[in-house]
Amino acid sequence: MIPLCIPEVRGNEWKYIKDCLDTNWVSSVGSYVDKFEDDFANYLEAKAAVVTMNGTAALELALRTLGIGKGDEVIVSSLTFISPVNTIRYVGAEPVFVDVCKDTWVMDESKIEELITSKTKAILPVHIYGNLVNMDKVMDIARKHDLFVIEDATESLGAIYKGKKAGNIGDIGCFSFNGNKLITTGAGGMLVTNKEDLAKRAKYLSTQTKSVLENGAFYHEELGYNFRMPNILAAMGCAQLEMVEEYVNAKLGHAKEYNNLLENVIGIKIPTEKDDTTNVNWLYSILVQDEFPLTRDELLNKLKDNGIQSRSFFMPVHNMPPYINCKHGDMSITNSISFKGINLPSSVELKKEEIEKICKVIKEC
Ligand SMILES: Cc1ncc(COP(=O)(O)O)c(C=O)c1O
Repeated sequence: MIPLCIPEVRGNEWKYIKDCLDTNWVSSVGSYVDKFEDDFANYLEAKAAVVTMNGTAALELALRTLGIGKGDEVIVSSLTFISPVNTIRYVGAEPVFVDVCKDTWVMDESKIEELITSKTKAILPVHIYGNLVNMDKVMDIARKHDLFVIEDATESLGAIYKGKKAGNIGDIGCFSFNGNKLITTGAGGMLVTNKEDLAKRAKYLSTQTKSVLENGAFYHEELGYNFRMPNILAAMGCAQLEMVEEYVNAKLGHAKEYNNLLENVIGIKIPTEKDDTTNVNWLYSILVQDEFPLTRDELLNKLKDNGIQSRSFFMPVHNMPPYINCKHGDMSITNSISFKGINLPSSVELKKEEIEKICKVIKEC
């Protein structure tokens, strides 16, 4: 089976984790926690980063850090993994769903303003599969209406929008280091920001709002959370981050191969790259259009029969039971793209011959 997307462990992971074991610094404080935060902030060219136990925790922490809660609305796309939407509910706010663009499959910025009400507090763009939201437009709208912007850049680590890395454009950017992400710590997440007060507040909330009194006792001024990542996982994160550019280049190389082999296949739509952006193609994805002889699901089965693991696009979150009654605009593009899209194998170590085999199966259809 050619897998969809598996982790890559070829750097200093063993060495750094062994160091934690040898020195007994295995839990939630330690030098690798600090180093991972510093190195990640440097990589993104952001002022600060706060590491968390997973990407969902980073998103929840971002919302809590910005004071978003009961009675507030957050505008988010529906063509996404459900995690960012769930976190809006975790803090007591309500998601309002906006449609996506036909070509990039991410939030359509031209449909945001019609959804803004007096309750809207934030926009939460999710950069899916390596694509990028048109952040200039989103930031203009946010400034005009005095809204926060939280980017979920989990799936676009390494992607570049007008010279800036995804996740370093809004007020806060969030990432996951779950097993299939560009870099992984097994489970993990990160919050980044250029505002030091926000970074400080995020760290404080994520560490049970703990302050230590002169006599050594712990004091907690308000409700806090334990969103911390253990040192042993941060050690893995440091090693993974050392390889990030190599992994980005591997993904870009795979996309080039796929594009060359699939660009002239009737009924297959390959990914779009907008001017001034680098789609990192974390999961190389295609749309199966009406002219293709098989339906999307038939092609998924054909790939499976040939030992190729692929995945259908996210189903629209606004149609899932927990969110069925939420506000949304016209969702026609989301509803259509969701049932046409396929993610193809995209592991860093994917070989040229494997890409040729995958494309041959598609062409033979
Ligand atoms: C876009 C997006 N946001 C958030 C998450 C959640 O991250 P985690 O699984 O680390 O909580 C994921 C997937 O893992 C994701 O794909």
